[in-house]
Amino acid sequence: MTTTIPEQPSPQGAPKGTALLEAKGVIMRFGGLTAVRDVSLTVGSGEIVGLIGPNGAGKTTFFNCLTGLYVPTEGTVSYRGTVLPPKPHLVTQAGIARTFQNIRLFANMTVLENVLVGRHTRTREGLLSALIRGPGYHRAEARSRERAMELLAFTGLAGKAEHLARNLPYGEQRKLEIARALASEPGLLLLDEPTAGMNPQETRATEELVFAIRDQGIAVLVIEHDMRFIFNLCDRVAVLVQGEKLVEGTSDVVQSDERVIAAYLGEPFEGAPADEAEERENDR
Ligand SMILES: Nc1ncnc2c1ncn2[C@@H]1O[C@H](COP(=O)(O)OP(=O)(O)OP(=O)(O)O)[C@@H](O)[C@H]1O
Ligand SMILES: [Mg+2]
Repeated sequence: MTTTIPEQPSPQGAPKGTALLEAKGVIMRFGGLTAVRDVSLTVGSGEIVGLIGPNGAGKTTFFNCLTGLYVPTEGTVSYRGTVLPPKPHLVTQAGIARTFQNIRLFANMTVLENVLVGRHTRTREGLLSALIRGPGYHRAEARSRERAMELLAFTGLAGKAEHLARNLPYGEQRKLEIARALASEPGLLLLDEPTAGMNPQETRATEELVFAIRDQGIAVLVIEHDMRFIFNLCDRVAVLVQGEKLVEGTSDVVQSDERVIAAYLGEPFEGAPADEAEERENDR
């Protein structure tokens, strides 16, 4: 894996540690069900923040509220101090990119074409220019391809540029989702279960990739069920249980919090006390 992304994410300039994303009092109701209950969360520049919680806790719903897929019932989401309109393309334009828990690639397009689609929000060439196909169009097109190839190299997919997305093994499809998200040149990347279905080696490689992304100046908010991955990676971790934020803190604090261990009973994770694990076994 290469470790350079020559082009920096835009917009630039937030010093490390300042608030990039600020979600305040987010509530999401579906009829009688409240999936997200008054959740506030901040992600600072330069940070990797984890979002964990049992199945159905509201993690993906919260991501959908952050990215404009859902209009929260209450609450606001700000990015770099400006409240975001709940429209996915405007959120992407503002500088937030995401991947999906259920991979959403264009299966019959090539790997390179998938990344070029992700780049779309950052190219200034309009419809007229595309129709005329003048020099401006060709320059922009060449630059887009060059940038897409850089991102494929960065994510370890350069050799697969011309393969159809649907022919990639599962782990590489997840990497391609990340490359496509990076193509919009985000300042913040949201990853929804990036290692789901991966083997341990692929998971380790993804961990390195997320560190490399952060080192390029892109903050990361990541949902994962793999606790080892989360606690290795994250500066801060927030725990959602039944739509509510139960705990938030450093990996050390969160790992040893009894409420968190209790919330995960039935879903053992590395670091859980052995006697608790045994109790679980006995209960079965
Ligand atoms: N569009 C929707 N309409 C109605 N209910 C929904 C909708 N989306 C999510 N929910 C419900 O909201 C709750 C939270 O679901 P969500 O997918 O956010 O959980 P999650 O924490 O991401 O779980 P997992 O770890 O399994 O991915 C669930 O009860 C789910 O059924
Ligand atoms: Mg989910």
